[in-house]
Amino acid sequence: MPSKRNPPARNQLGIVGAGAVGSTIAYAAMLRGVVHEIVLTDVNAAKAEAEAKDLLHGSVFVPSAEVWAGSLTDLRDSTVIVITAGAKQKPGQSRLDLIGANTAVLTDLVPKLVEIAPDALFLIVSNPVDVLTYVAWKLSGLPGARVFGSGTVLDTSRFRSLLALRLRVSVANVHALVIGEHGDSEVPLWSTAQIAGIPLDQFSSTDAPKLTQSDRESIFKGVRAAAAQVIAAKGATNWAIGLAVTRILEAILRDEQAVLAVSRVLQNYHDISNVCLSVPSLVGSSGVGAPLPLQISKEEMAAFKASADVVRDVIVKLGF
Ligand SMILES: NC(=O)c1ccc[n+]([C@@H]2O[C@H](COP(=O)([O-])OP(=O)(O)OC[C@H]3O[C@@H](n4cnc5c(N)ncnc54)[C@H](O)[C@@H]3O)[C@@H](O)[C@H]2O)c1
Repeated sequence: MPSKRNPPARNQLGIVGAGAVGSTIAYAAMLRGVVHEIVLTDVNAAKAEAEAKDLLHGSVFVPSAEVWAGSLTDLRDSTVIVITAGAKQKPGQSRLDLIGANTAVLTDLVPKLVEIAPDALFLIVSNPVDVLTYVAWKLSGLPGARVFGSGTVLDTSRFRSLLALRLRVSVANVHALVIGEHGDSEVPLWSTAQIAGIPLDQFSSTDAPKLTQSDRESIFKGVRAAAAQVIAAKGATNWAIGLAVTRILEAILRDEQAVLAVSRVLQNYHDISNVCLSVPSLVGSSGVGAPLPLQISKEEMAAFKASADVVRDVIVKLGF
């Protein structure tokens, strides 16, 4: 177990990449009041400067937060550095299509950032997030607890939202997870899903009949295809990922030990090693704790292992 870190009294959030996702994370973090200070950096310095100014001009309406644009060296005091830099999917592209461009971006950024902010936690958001989290972890030389990815926290939120909509129940009462790759091989955990303690396949209400097999298929299709559909119509996804990353930041900065499906390096976990994937893990001020054991169906475990193979193959081809 990594030793517990005492968060500094004044938390600074560093964001590398002030595009649609980076700026929205800053906005969501301001609204939720999770940090005292946000520093935006981007190779396009004018863009980072403009986004920081635009956000700062709204700071009177949110809990206190100072927002400014800077260079990488200005992240030296950051408690958490979020990396959203790099290429994004164009309509029709998969996340794995971004691998060449974004591995190059991280290979350049990570060693510099670790030198500048050796005590920070590193949260990777750029895609393909599982492969890049592994690349960042390897390049950083840091313990796995301190380099992790947003993973399927977003997919889990999509899954819970669609279940809540179909079952006409508050999303807060839907307990369900998506694990594995943040991508096409991800695995929805139907066997452990429940509504306020009632197993999903037994839940119904006056407003909502029990889920059918075809409901399950269309809900999961909605989760897996969500990004592609949104990107086809508006060119990026930003709002939900901004909120998902802010949820992870809250868990870190409040030392919550919240169970979140973040992407993290796995070693000897259900016979899976040397890959980053999302599994439920405790998240707090030291970063990501040990992954929790999975108690899932045989089919789900097989799908999870197949997902690990997909991500591991890409990592091996990259030479990591
Ligand atoms: N993990 C997730 O769930 C999730 C969700 C949505 C998007 N994403 C990913 O996040 C990334 C960003 O998406 P976006 O929509 O914000 O893209 P964007 O094009 O709007 O922003 C990317 C920004 O990165 C900057 N950049 C590029 N190289 C850089 C470098 N070396 N150093 C600093 N800045 C650099 C660019 O100038 C640009 O401003 C993409 O890879 C996208 O696929 C991940």
